[in-house]
Amino acid sequence: MLPSIRVAVAAALVGLTATIARAADVQTPAIFDTAAAPADAIADYAVLVIGICLAIFVVVATLLAIAVVRFRAREGETREPPQVYGSNQIELAWTVVPVLIVVILGLVTARNIVALQDVGPEEGVLRVRAVGHQWWWEFHYPDHGVVTANELHLPVGTRAVLDLESADVIHSFWVPQLAGKIDLIPNRTNHLWMEPARPGHFVGQCAEYCGTQHAHMLLSVVVQSPDDFEGWIANQQRDAVDDPAVREGREIFERTACVSCHVVRGTPADGRFGPDLTHLMSRATIGSGVAPNGRDELIAWITSPDHLKPGVRMPAMNLDEPSIEKLVDYLVTLR
Ligand code: CUA
Repeated sequence: MLPSIRVAVAAALVGLTATIARAADVQTPAIFDTAAAPADAIADYAVLVIGICLAIFVVVATLLAIAVVRFRAREGETREPPQVYGSNQIELAWTVVPVLIVVILGLVTARNIVALQDVGPEEGVLRVRAVGHQWWWEFHYPDHGVVTANELHLPVGTRAVLDLESADVIHSFWVPQLAGKIDLIPNRTNHLWMEPARPGHFVGQCAEYCGTQHAHMLLSVVVQSPDDFEGWIANQQRDAVDDPAVREGREIFERTACVSCHVVRGTPADGRFGPDLTHLMSRATIGSGVAPNGRDELIAWITSPDHLKPGVRMPAMNLDEPSIEKLVDYLVTLR
């Protein structure tokens, strides 16, 4: 629907948001610069609604301007102008036209809601279980035996069906360029589908206030070619790298409370409270987008997680500096 208008609106808004984003040095998800089927439908719908509202505004503002100019009080005029009461034509016009507009919008809305909620056939879809935590995202690929955090990888051209759950409070999943917004509610599973149309890196945010660090629940979606996606899956399926050069760090990890909250597959670490660290270094950020994922940031994070992310559930382990260095030497091998 209205593809050329949408492209024009998208171009204008993308230009504007890109300018703001550059000024603020942030990556902005532009809702009109869509990259997946459900987001396309939502953007088309938004353009339709904005277009109808704009038309109403133009008609009303024009009539108002004409009335103000044409029927303004003139010099020497003392009497009120003639008043119009009970004109059937005018009454009908301003009743029927708005009713028609509401009916049209209602029908289009209903059609869109049904289409967006229909996750489609079971076959050929990529199933992902997404769990919201205070304050990070957990992603399971049950058909591949993969668990990761904060970075969702999807292949181009395949319909992904997300089963959304919460481990604690209500969160909300929203990657505007790919799909609509949907809440993750404790003791309930919601569903969302997205069919990415082009590769790229798309970001979103938790969209429901969920506690102190609600603002640091970055959603990062990496859409890849099917080959790249297969490569990513294959790497994620491997057990953690076991590099003898960093054995000391691994031993520190295994005898510290790290193991009661984190999984490192292939080691005794199988805590489920925090993110799976088996392929930690395959991710771009730590703390769900709070800092880039690098050696220095990991040292800062482990020394005092609360410093980077106040209120974070991960406690400081109070290890001495050399131990933290060795621990991070081990972590950076987890590719
Ligand atoms: Cu999670 Cu807001």
